[in-house]
Amino acid sequence: MPSKFRCIRCGGEYEPGSVFNCECGGLLEVVHEPMRWGRHVVDSRLCPMGVPYSSGVWRYKELIHPGLAAGMIVTRPEGNTNIYTRKVVSNYAGVEKLSMKHEGENPTGSFKDRGMTVAVSEAVRQKAKAVACASTGNTSASMAAYAAQAGLRGVVFIPEGEISYGKLSQALAYGSKVVQVPGSFDDAMRIVQEASRELGFYLLNSINPWRVEGQKTIIFELLHQRAWVPPDWIVVPAGNLGNTSAFGKALSELVELGWVEKVPRIASIQAEGAAPFYKMWKGGCSSLEALKPETVASAIKIGNPVSWEKAIRVIRETDGVVDVVSDAEIMEAKAIVDGSGVGCEPASAASVAGVRKLVSKGVIKPDEDVVCVLTGNILKDSDATIGYHTGKLKGVTPGRANAPTRIDAGAMSASLRRILSQ
Ligand code: F0G
Repeated sequence: MPSKFRCIRCGGEYEPGSVFNCECGGLLEVVHEPMRWGRHVVDSRLCPMGVPYSSGVWRYKELIHPGLAAGMIVTRPEGNTNIYTRKVVSNYAGVEKLSMKHEGENPTGSFKDRGMTVAVSEAVRQKAKAVACASTGNTSASMAAYAAQAGLRGVVFIPEGEISYGKLSQALAYGSKVVQVPGSFDDAMRIVQEASRELGFYLLNSINPWRVEGQKTIIFELLHQRAWVPPDWIVVPAGNLGNTSAFGKALSELVELGWVEKVPRIASIQAEGAAPFYKMWKGGCSSLEALKPETVASAIKIGNPVSWEKAIRVIRETDGVVDVVSDAEIMEAKAIVDGSGVGCEPASAASVAGVRKLVSKGVIKPDEDVVCVLTGNILKDSDATIGYHTGKLKGVTPGRANAPTRIDAGAMSASLRRILSQ
């Protein structure tokens, strides 16, 4: 039996195509045929040479796209990201057993590659000619790279002036058509859905359930690396809520397979100025109210996340929590993660800032085992990093600034000697 799409609201089933909402309006998810084999299969794939199983995504092929022919897989390969522990970061967050899974180590510098390899491969299977996405930057960088590799036309819609130069430069360089939309990510999201319907682009945002399938492998790989021993908490930055949704789906599938016994609690962390999901969860509301987003963490500057309905289930099912952190807290946590030598982009640091906050509230206990997901590479948003260290970031007083020093002449001088001996 091939994989199907199923509505999370009414249970209606569909052949996988390019429509991602049920007739009743509910979101669709992928359901696979029940599995009949054990974890020795993925264990044996841990160190293979060559694609596709050397990919930290396709190693779990039977759990993400079992029916796909190997020849259709478009892979770099991706995944195989490291887990770091750093004393300064755990001291800062207030938990002894804190680790960081660094998804910024993916080929284009963010976790998006995990979902993109699956969804672009599916686009190839569907014989799509063009693929499209709206993006705060990372999705567009990733999609542009995979579209180039697959020989597909790529069209990305970005909020004008709102995405970092690093990410914009990737989309341009990999050759996608970049459309700058006046307004926010949410406006770009609306337009890309219209354009895809009208012009037949295969939509590659995380509303596409295949993206979610790929992103599940963050959890599969994390637990595999930990010999299938789950932590107490997994903490993730939350924007459009694709990851939160994917993490919950991955965990419930692993429990169903009997590969793990305990489900970690998921904490989704939003930026204070872009926190519609937090407001919904906190207020106990049954639907999400869109808002105008504002945050220095441009990757998660989203006011109307498309996957909220999947994500809220995950928070409920994992006994999870949603919280918010301010821009100042995000940038301070980033300075700590950067200063530990690990480094990440601003949105990623929301996870570490979130742990610190949840520890201070007594929600996370200092002796619990916590994994933060760092979603993007330190080089992704150098403007924010330099802005912080030079004190030019709006609304943020840098407590840990490390500004460059200018000297008057290219030679040793008394003043330079003084600076260097400090
Ligand atoms: N962290 C980074 C670095 C991101 O780029 C994103 C999302 C998120 C966190 C939030 O993840 O949407 O699954 O809750 N970036 C999207 C983009 C929106 O267009 O690149 P989410």
